[in-house]
Amino acid sequence: MNTILAEILEARVLPGAPTRAHVSPVKLDTTALPGGSLVMLLFVNDEPEPRYVLRIPRTPDHPERLIRNYRSLEAVAREPGVGNSVPHPIYCGDLGGTVSSVETCVPGYPLAVAMRIARDEGHLDHLAKLFRIAADWIWSLHDQCDRFTAHQAECILQHAQRAVSILMSTGIVSPPQAEWLLDAARAADVSSMPVARIHGDFNPNNALLDGDGSLYVIDWEFSGPGWPLYDLFTLARTSWFHPAANVDPSPSRAQALWDRRTPLGRAFGDALGRYEHRYNLSRADVRALFGVFVAGLVADEVEQMRGRNPTPGEPWQALLRTALQADS
Ligand SMILES: Nc1ncnc2c1ncn2[C@@H]1O[C@H](COP(=O)(O)OP(=O)(O)OP(=O)(O)O)[C@@H](O)[C@H]1O
Ligand SMILES: [Mg+2]
Repeated sequence: MNTILAEILEARVLPGAPTRAHVSPVKLDTTALPGGSLVMLLFVNDEPEPRYVLRIPRTPDHPERLIRNYRSLEAVAREPGVGNSVPHPIYCGDLGGTVSSVETCVPGYPLAVAMRIARDEGHLDHLAKLFRIAADWIWSLHDQCDRFTAHQAECILQHAQRAVSILMSTGIVSPPQAEWLLDAARAADVSSMPVARIHGDFNPNNALLDGDGSLYVIDWEFSGPGWPLYDLFTLARTSWFHPAANVDPSPSRAQALWDRRTPLGRAFGDALGRYEHRYNLSRADVRALFGVFVAGLVADEVEQMRGRNPTPGEPWQALLRTALQADS
């Protein structure tokens, strides 16, 4: 690590060419998946606050995700409206044989922490308020970056086809349900619905909330062209019906998202309304797309369990049933 730091200082990649710097790891690195990156706070000139974040790939021969994070930041940081609430890219390259990147350090604490406290203490109005802050933010990204020419349906259809083939092999979706999912994905082929840049992993661990209520969004390694509702559904999943710490999802919470009598149901419904209006979708269309999203989650779970269990656990199957009943 010190070698990379020395190379960075020597190559003068940091603004103002500081003479001294040190790094500190962000977290204990025991649970992270291969393919990700090691993240370190970078302090310069003995300053008490970190100024930058340094990343190196966890697996030296696979720097793709780190590079994608950097390229996405280059694009998003230029966008008015959202550019000031993402880290700014400083450097990405190969120094002495190690690919590394440097971005600015943004302030705040993970939104996931505030959301978890609100959930655990039953403060659902507060949880809904935090959800709205994140949903507003991701809407401004989609609203701003909604100019790819390819059709969104392709991404949704691929998502559905993959889920269907995995779920059919386990027998937990019937042929009519599989057809319903594929129809839902095909129906999203609204020509007025271009692909937007999506974050791709929009969970509240990747959003930092500052003391004044401003949100900063980090971790752009999965960002690219995609279907915007994927980000909103990911937020709903990770902040409400399947937070990171929970082994299983909660089907009843997923169902409650569609109930405007609850604070989160209203926050989710209001967020959906903007997409429906913009892309000319009905609530039924959006619920069908939620079915496609959930089928993808259950398919991921099946893939992760391969060889250990032939079918996913009951909460996953119940979640899928909830999502597939959307048209009834
Ligand atoms: N630009 C940044 N500014 C401030 N803090 C950051 C920044 N980038 C990352 N962090 C901190 O580092 C932590 C981990 O970063 P990040 O979300 O990018 O990786 P990760 O999701 O843990 O990594 P992996 O995907 O490899 O598991 C974040 O939760 C945040 O606390
Ligand atoms: Mg992250």
